[in-house]
Amino acid sequence: MSTRELRQIVNGDQVSDGAGVQLKRVIGSPQLSMLDPFLMFDAFGSDRPQEYLAGFPPHPHRGFETVTYMLAGKMRHEDSAGNRGVIETGGVQWMSAGRGVIHSEMPEQEEGLLAGFQLWVNLPAAEKMSEPRYQERSASEIPIENHENGTRIKVVAGKTDNGTEGVIDNPYVNPLYLHVELPAEISFEQQVAEGDNSFVYVINGQLSVGDKQRPLKAGQLGVLERGETVKLFAETDSELLLVSGRPLKEPVARGGPFVMNTREEVEQAFADYREGRLA
Ligand code: CO
Repeated sequence: MSTRELRQIVNGDQVSDGAGVQLKRVIGSPQLSMLDPFLMFDAFGSDRPQEYLAGFPPHPHRGFETVTYMLAGKMRHEDSAGNRGVIETGGVQWMSAGRGVIHSEMPEQEEGLLAGFQLWVNLPAAEKMSEPRYQERSASEIPIENHENGTRIKVVAGKTDNGTEGVIDNPYVNPLYLHVELPAEISFEQQVAEGDNSFVYVINGQLSVGDKQRPLKAGQLGVLERGETVKLFAETDSELLLVSGRPLKEPVARGGPFVMNTREEVEQAFADYREGRLA
């Protein structure tokens, strides 16, 4: 069985998005424009309200999925179809924008830590104009697997080697999305589909990756080589995301909040948005 070695380390860029939210863009940055099917991966985390309070006022999406996973704090969302709710600490919202939504994402707090991630997952051409769909799960609905060695795995999507299954359904890229806590000196292995693209993002601590034991530090994203087995070793108490998905291998045309297959389809999305036909 082949071990997935570390192919690339991405540090990401500090950017300001929405109405002035400070975040770190890791996928979708000059260093790593995409990792098919993942179009963007942002990490946000601040206890300074001026860095997050302005939030993300109403904006459109078409052609892909946005995945928000909260580590701390609360985020309120509302959309043009009347869906609304609050994603709280440990919760996930997996939104399939399909043919179009206009939504807002605003912090539901005026002080304290707000931290989490937003991942953009591409949709195949045949699904880009499908009806929007939401999968929203609170922390208590996300299965947790505890090992005797202290390993703790929150299974957002996909299946662990011990058979714990996540709560998100996505037949297009079969995603794996694990939030793993590893005590110091503990190793972790997980099988992934051999053709998947996979990455590890270190939230806290320090890991060594693969048989070659290349180091990966807190705040870094490691793109993994193809292979069947992810092998990680925690040099210190560590916390990480392991994310994997089947590449779509289709042309990608991006225009701000729209991700389609051709330039013309992106222009159509802008026209539909301007003329109120998007949602
Ligand atoms: Co959005």
